[in-house]
Amino acid sequence: MTAETPLLEVTDLVRHYDLPREKLFGPPPTVKALNGVSFSVQPGRSMGIVGESGSGKSTIARLVMALDRPTSGRVRLEGRDLHALPRQELRAARRDVQMVFQDPYGSLDPRQTVARIVAEPLEALAETSRAEQRQRASESLAAVGLRTSDLDKYPHEFSGGQRQRIAIARALITRPKLIVADEPVSALDVSVQAQVLNLMQDLQQQFGISYLLISHDLAVVNHLCDEVCVLHRGLVVERGTPQHLFAHAEHPYTQALLAAVPRAEPPIVS
Ligand SMILES: Nc1ncnc2c1ncn2[C@@H]1O[C@H](COP(=O)(O)OP(=O)(O)OP(=O)(O)O)[C@@H](O)[C@H]1O
Ligand SMILES: [Mg+2]
Repeated sequence: MTAETPLLEVTDLVRHYDLPREKLFGPPPTVKALNGVSFSVQPGRSMGIVGESGSGKSTIARLVMALDRPTSGRVRLEGRDLHALPRQELRAARRDVQMVFQDPYGSLDPRQTVARIVAEPLEALAETSRAEQRQRASESLAAVGLRTSDLDKYPHEFSGGQRQRIAIARALITRPKLIVADEPVSALDVSVQAQVLNLMQDLQQQFGISYLLISHDLAVVNHLCDEVCVLHRGLVVERGTPQHLFAHAEHPYTQALLAAVPRAEPPIVS
């Protein structure tokens, strides 16, 4: 029997950053951001990564997006070792993984129209005409509840929640299998957070998208994820379904994380 190939498989991922040498002799100081992280995501399933500030969450995101190289370990996308792919194949693989960032203000170029911003991942693939790009951008906007008439506007004309919809439309345009979302709602008002999370859930169901959802808030990943890894100092200290972690967190760090997060609703405890 052959098991299904995971969409994403992260194996023993280590990332140490060398800092500038402080002393003339001796090794340079290193920040051990990741110290051997492994997890996998099956097609159509979603994984949450939670952890405090500095635990290594964004480092995982950068390595999965191939924006940074691991010190050791592997990131496999549908079985292909992402960091060993030739340039051309990496470009093609990028179509399958897109990213949504935390800051809906800083992540959209204020000088570009929405049409250009949303179509930008297609430009990198260099195979679609301008007219086709515009058409696809319009479809993407419709999928996130915005209008074709928004195509020629600029980011400053939108609210924070609408900007995050634009960022999601940009991620959708290549029809990715995986979206890496690094704190996608933490810069938004609480009332808008739920709308964006509901949109992400709809898209998950509609297009079978998997998320690698990064958050410091277990309640946020509870919305979208089948499984959660709790990260602490670059290591996974606990993993399970969100419901399980809410009810039976074993690691003191997970318990502390749960206690520290104010939630709108109490978790369901069975
Ligand atoms: N380019 C870099 N050079 C040196 N150190 C880095 C670099 N990038 C990250 N680090 C360090 O690695 C550790 C993990 O950082 P990371 O950004 O992954 O944390 P995080 O969990 O995303 O935190 P936050 O919740 O604040 O976003 C931190 O100590 C950070 O200072
Ligand atoms: Mg981060």
